[in-house]
Amino acid sequence: MIDRELIASWLEVACLAPSPHNNQPWTARANFDGVSLQLDQQLVPLLGPDRLQFMALGAFIENMSYAAAAHGYALVVDKLPTVPRRQAISCEPETSITLITGAAQRSAAADLAARAMRVVFSVPELRRDLAPFVFTGADPPRMTGMPLASMNPAAPANVPGSRWALELASADEEAEAARARFERSPLHFVVSSRTDTLPGWIAGGRTMQRVLVTATVLRLSHCLAAGPSEIPTLLPGLRRLARAEGRPLILGRLGVPSLPGRGIASPRRPVDDVLRR
Ligand SMILES: Cc1cc2nc3c(=O)[nH]c(=O)nc-3n(C[C@H](O)[C@H](O)[C@H](O)COP(=O)(O)O)c2cc1C
Repeated sequence: MIDRELIASWLEVACLAPSPHNNQPWTARANFDGVSLQLDQQLVPLLGPDRLQFMALGAFIENMSYAAAAHGYALVVDKLPTVPRRQAISCEPETSITLITGAAQRSAAADLAARAMRVVFSVPELRRDLAPFVFTGADPPRMTGMPLASMNPAAPANVPGSRWALELASADEEAEAARARFERSPLHFVVSSRTDTLPGWIAGGRTMQRVLVTATVLRLSHCLAAGPSEIPTLLPGLRRLARAEGRPLILGRLGVPSLPGRGIASPRRPVDDVLRR
């Protein structure tokens, strides 16, 4: 039996994983010969999509494997969860990373990022999906979600984040800001998976996290954009950029932090909340 304290220390690292809107949708249970990890249905948004939630779980697993390795343990995932209401396909996943460097390709990636933001802020359901996850100093403290200042430094700090997301944010401004951020970044990447299945999403999340951890070690900043993969009208453009077989899962950008060491941190749930008895 692995010591519970040791597992808790691995979970500290696992919990730093990225997640969509920072919803941190995971729970863990220590059992006789390991840990069982699950999505916490309470934290999974109604609109989904499952793909992003399981990629976050993959990033969580990847982080945990680094923490376990530091104590001499090799993390083995022996059973993947199944997607409720769908048939789980147990094929072996393969993933790939495409680096996007040329000026024309980078501009195409920036265009996709901008169009994704325009969709998010033009569709009321998507605004409603985002609203509970945005907060400012005018909101009570919370363990999940994103500080508005980290999304848009020019946004008002004295109104609740949900009000900004529902009423005040401008689709045009958010789209153009996303375009500018992507155009400034020297390197973009797409993570793809051979299959668009649950094992493929988890494997894609692990590959994504490998890119992000490597970038962090190299002191590069990073940002992810799920919209180009999740918005059906943008997916063909992402496929052209990815030039890979299978399903592109996520677009990301890497760069030099504009304010080194002064990034605005998003909160994380404490391990006690994640590790269930
Ligand atoms: C699967 C996935 C999809 C994401 N999609 C987006 C996105 O579309 N736009 C964005 O700005 N951030 C996206 N993120 C990043 C999260 O917003 C970010 O991880 C979270 O807010 C926590 O921030 P931190 O990782 O900087 O601490 C995504 C993260 C994951 C794991």
